[in-house]
Amino acid sequence: MRKPKPKSYQLIRGMKDVLPQEDARWDMINKTAEKLARSFGYDYIETPILEDTNLFVRSVGEHSDIVEKEMFSFTDKGGDNVSMRPEGTAPIIRSYIEHGMIREMQPVRLWYNGPFFRYDRPQAGRYRQFHQFGFEAIGEIDPIIDAEILLMTNQFFKKLGIPISIQINSNGHPECRAKFIKAFQEYARSKRSMLCEDCKKRLLKNPMRIIDCKEEGCQTVASSGPQIVDHLCEDCRTHFTRVLEYCDEVSIPYVLNPRIVRGLDYYTKTTFEVWAEGEQEAAQMSLGGGGRYDGLAEDLGGRTTPAIGVALGLERISLKLIDRQIQKERPDIFIAQLGEKARRKCLGLIDALTSEGMSVVSALSKSNLKNQLEIANKKAAKFVLILGQKEIVDETIMLRDMDAGAQELLDFRKAVEEVKKRVQAYGVLVKDLKESGLTK
Ligand code: HAM
Repeated sequence: MRKPKPKSYQLIRGMKDVLPQEDARWDMINKTAEKLARSFGYDYIETPILEDTNLFVRSVGEHSDIVEKEMFSFTDKGGDNVSMRPEGTAPIIRSYIEHGMIREMQPVRLWYNGPFFRYDRPQAGRYRQFHQFGFEAIGEIDPIIDAEILLMTNQFFKKLGIPISIQINSNGHPECRAKFIKAFQEYARSKRSMLCEDCKKRLLKNPMRIIDCKEEGCQTVASSGPQIVDHLCEDCRTHFTRVLEYCDEVSIPYVLNPRIVRGLDYYTKTTFEVWAEGEQEAAQMSLGGGGRYDGLAEDLGGRTTPAIGVALGLERISLKLIDRQIQKERPDIFIAQLGEKARRKCLGLIDALTSEGMSVVSALSKSNLKNQLEIANKKAAKFVLILGQKEIVDETIMLRDMDAGAQELLDFRKAVEEVKKRVQAYGVLVKDLKESGLTK
């Protein structure tokens, strides 16, 4: 009897494979993010994917879309209610409190990068598992730190050559917001018939959500209603003015946008989103978002700890780079060989070269030299080392500079040392050319 064909499996709806074709883009985004974070003195933090569900209920908000509709939550085998993190700020503050980071020099500057989960309606740029990296500066109330976060955000997109605008607003602190909500609720009630069904429900529980609803009727209601900036107290207004002045100082491309109220409850004062330049507001899928959350640590059982941060979405940024020809990093060396003896020696050579920090590609299972050189070309290796039968006997190895087309014979015992010198010289040359603007 024939064996039944096994079932084939597909991705779960809303999930996405990051395929090798995206490698160059992802690598560029990740490396740019890490370099930026480290150059501004941010330390890496990694919190677990699973957290107590209540952590998000208490921080992101019971009536937020994330908590009401989008969390992957379940009861674990021990009976605890846990959720796969939908965002990174609340877990980081949990960790800050739990590990007594308040005793360290403030602000504590942290950065992170990893997967997050929201049971969202999937489409291009919106997934149920997505990746964010973010920067959080915890323990400082001065508006100059808001400017630092905005500066980093802007610098990141400048480095990648993605034109953006930072849509900025102030949510005030809870007292300002309470006054605004009352005024807005009264106004929106008078326009109830224009609201979508979701927003009719939001009118009572969470009227702020009407402001960032994408439905046309709700947008009309929101744009002609009261604005939160007109309800800010003196302290919140001064803070906001300072942030904008600092942004002007470093030419951050911001746009005042009263509709940026954000979908997470913990925000206070400065709030912002990163929008790709030239996209219609209705089609907007923000590339990033952030703001101050001065009350979050206290809400989670810690001491009063003002803080601000931003998170940027990798998938959406990657989509913005899709038409770019991003060069993968060239391997330093390709090793080609002929014959079993040479092949054996190559293993040791690869070990020695990679141990010295060089990147090495090979096709040791192939025996045809022409095929191997074709692969070396395809991989755009800077140098090719060729070890044939003659070289084995002479204890030499051939080094070919692929850009110059020049070849030289090296003493096999000195090969690693000599190749390292060539690779380093190549690095210096590329750096000089870049600095002189002759190459990218
Ligand atoms: P958020 O605006 O909810 O903020 O998310 C930040 C970014 O994550 C979005 O701008 C977007 O690029 C990306 N993102 C969100 N949901 C999805 C999705 N379903 N698919 C693909 N990308 C998505 C936060 O999460 C806050 N924790 C940001 C923050 C940090 N505030 C202060 N510090």
